[in-house]
Amino acid sequence: MGRFEEPPDPLFRRLNASVAFDRRLWREDVAGSRAHVESLHRAGVIEGADRNALLAGLDAVAAELDGGSFEFRDEDEDVHMAIERRLTEIAGPVGGKLHTGRSRNDQVATDLALFARAHSERALELTGGLMSRLLELAVAHADWPMPGYTHLQRAQAVYLGHHLLAYFWMLARDARRFGAARAAAVDSLPLGAGALAGLNWELDREATARELGFEAPAANSIDAVSNRDFVLDYLHAASVCATHLSRLGAEIVIWSSEEFGFCKPADDFSSGSSLMPQKKNPDAAELLRAKAPRVTGSLLTLTGVLHALPLAYSKDLQEDKEALFDAVDTIELCLEAAERMLAGLAFDRARLAAAAADEMVAATDVADLLVRRGMPFREAHGVVGGLVRTALELGVSLSELDRDELARHSELLDDEYYEVLGEGAWLESKRSQGGTGSAPLAAQIEAARRVLESLSEAGR
Ligand code: ARG
Repeated sequence: MGRFEEPPDPLFRRLNASVAFDRRLWREDVAGSRAHVESLHRAGVIEGADRNALLAGLDAVAAELDGGSFEFRDEDEDVHMAIERRLTEIAGPVGGKLHTGRSRNDQVATDLALFARAHSERALELTGGLMSRLLELAVAHADWPMPGYTHLQRAQAVYLGHHLLAYFWMLARDARRFGAARAAAVDSLPLGAGALAGLNWELDREATARELGFEAPAANSIDAVSNRDFVLDYLHAASVCATHLSRLGAEIVIWSSEEFGFCKPADDFSSGSSLMPQKKNPDAAELLRAKAPRVTGSLLTLTGVLHALPLAYSKDLQEDKEALFDAVDTIELCLEAAERMLAGLAFDRARLAAAAADEMVAATDVADLLVRRGMPFREAHGVVGGLVRTALELGVSLSELDRDELARHSELLDDEYYEVLGEGAWLESKRSQGGTGSAPLAAQIEAARRVLESLSEAGR
């Protein structure tokens, strides 16, 4: 047909065809085609009767795709050609008018932008769901002491609610990034750019942009067909979000070990061992931990595809889709699963409290007591280091050191030393904004509520 004397080699066909995966864009493709038909009609390029026939034909094709009766053929290279082929079968030769003033280059960029918009919105919704679960858990565990860690060594005590809210704020930043990815997707409409140079028809691109929900038509037709920044933006947002989930998953794996015993996953979110009858494994948390590099891999794939790619369209760009689809599927599954897994997680108050009762986590508080008595912090740090060493040598806790022992280390140490080491004192002493004490934690919970509210308002 046309320019070619030979049909494509089957091997080339396999390499070249994208229909196996880009069929997923059919809804976006039909929506773009409908808008294009209206645009052609508005500009007087096609008559009213053709417009009606094309729209009815597209409806029929969409119904087949929706109902699962649509038959893709071997010769359909991609979803765009499959839909046009079927449209022409159903509507007759008028189907051949659909591609007037359009190239698959501006068509596929438009489809993908619509897809990226829809899934940025979905990610926002799921991120909000996970944030609200974290907030709920934080409120329920706002006064449960636990050790906070640095280097995975006990550092200072915190409340579990405070620790859980750390993830809330990570996800709040993810929500902001998904929001930006959404804005990037609809920033400029590719359709109307043609293959790269623009069209021989004066279509009203402003109207089409409005109809499809874009801010404006793309200002430069060359940029329009080669731009995939909005996919990079989505993939970056998804990659950072998946990385956050991997840290959450990793902590839950550690916490649910026998050695920590801080929490237990619910039965329906863990699995047993085929060999060892006693096992209950935190598989969901492990998979949250392991999925992140895969999403980041998608981001790197597209960065690689775009790297040094000359303008405008090259078939390389077809490789954008599987990377995006896999990232979408992975992050949406992980966000939903993380929320459900957390919902069933049972924390062990006694185990957490016992670990947090280790007085060594209050060493900084003793040093700050000396600072309040006038000693420079660096010196106080050394004095308390000596107290810690003495306690370890004697095999006692810090509060078991008597007044004589204290006096040997510093004459500034008085009875308030024992108050500083009193139960819960070193938690409530963290009164600074953003700290773990009950007062700043309550303020933090309020701030989190407001963020969540504005997020759900923005989604409405
Ligand atoms: N399947 C192609 C893609 O995904 C559609 C665009 C094809 N354009 C072209 N000039 N061959 O990128």
